[in-house]
Amino acid sequence: MNTEIYDLTDDKIYETAINNAADAIKNGGIVVFPTETVYGLGADATNTEAVKKIFTAKGRPQDNPLIVHFARFEDCYEYVGEVSEWAKVIARKFMPGPITVIVKRSDRLSDSVTAGLDSVGVRVPSDRFARDFLAKASVPVAAPSANISGRPSPTKAEYAIEDMNGKCDVILAGNMCEVGLESTVVDCTGDKVRILRPGAVTAEELSEIVPLDEASLSEDQKIRPKSPGMKYRHYKPSSYVIALDGTDEDTADYLNSVSHDEDTAVIAFDGVLSLAECPVKLSLGSREDLATAAHELFAHFRYCDKIGIKKIYVCCTDLRGVGDAYMNRLTKAMDEYIRL
Ligand code: TXA
Ligand code: MG
Repeated sequence: MNTEIYDLTDDKIYETAINNAADAIKNGGIVVFPTETVYGLGADATNTEAVKKIFTAKGRPQDNPLIVHFARFEDCYEYVGEVSEWAKVIARKFMPGPITVIVKRSDRLSDSVTAGLDSVGVRVPSDRFARDFLAKASVPVAAPSANISGRPSPTKAEYAIEDMNGKCDVILAGNMCEVGLESTVVDCTGDKVRILRPGAVTAEELSEIVPLDEASLSEDQKIRPKSPGMKYRHYKPSSYVIALDGTDEDTADYLNSVSHDEDTAVIAFDGVLSLAECPVKLSLGSREDLATAAHELFAHFRYCDKIGIKKIYVCCTDLRGVGDAYMNRLTKAMDEYIRL
């Protein structure tokens, strides 16, 4: 398939790019577009044939439902079933932004979007490019992350192009995604709100405005499993990933005590990198600033794949704020966990 790639940072072609991407969606095609979380691969959520193309392009299991994107939250009412009070409260406070609310579905959306569930995820991205594209498309856009299933989600245009060039109709290449991890997914169909996937909107922030289900609150045990063998892998670079959980000094001491091959990389806080000797060093910024760690993690994973790294050491973070989401993704990507 011939894929049209547009550079959205070029003002001269911006309007053409958005119009052509919107037309592709209306004609049953699939389009890669940037959001503030990660790049998405979108299709008209009312068109079953179009939605199926997403699953094929990604190699995604059919039983994994897609979330649906709108330019404004109000636009979802026409396409979903009952929207609970909690969903509205969350939407008022955090949308547009990096959160997805699960509400009741209706039959206006294709069954392949919801994968047989009676609910559907609604998301309103804050990224300007995403909003312009969604407004122009004027249909609900079902979109998972624009990676081949199992790989880390693309947070830069080049990685979305790497996975999807030749498999979709249009790629809108924008800036690096501001957040860098996928949206917080919250189930709003029950009496209490339950976090299904942590993201940049945190449990602490949500608990200030809605009642949270106990199961939402992350426990150390859940995040840092005792057994190193992980049965559920995801967001995975092709290398062997070792998570290191300790202070800057302990992490640097550990790294200096093992030998490093040329194809080993370290993804760590600046405090570690300044003390550790290793061939490829990739920064997560300061340990005090977890937003930077979240922003960088997937981009570093993808870069490691690109340059042929075989083993990656990665720092763990604490669980405050977006650290919860960071550790959730790292836990799914790692092969081994070492508590220092
Ligand atoms: O930030 C994001 O959410 C990105 C951008 C593109 O918007 N999208 C994204 O989509 O991460 P995806 O498909 O990679 O992840 C959506 C997650 C999946 O884990 C899926 O199982 C879950 O949301 N999900 C979707 N619909 C659901 C539903 N009705 N009930 C429970 N979980 C659902
Ligand atoms: Mg995904």
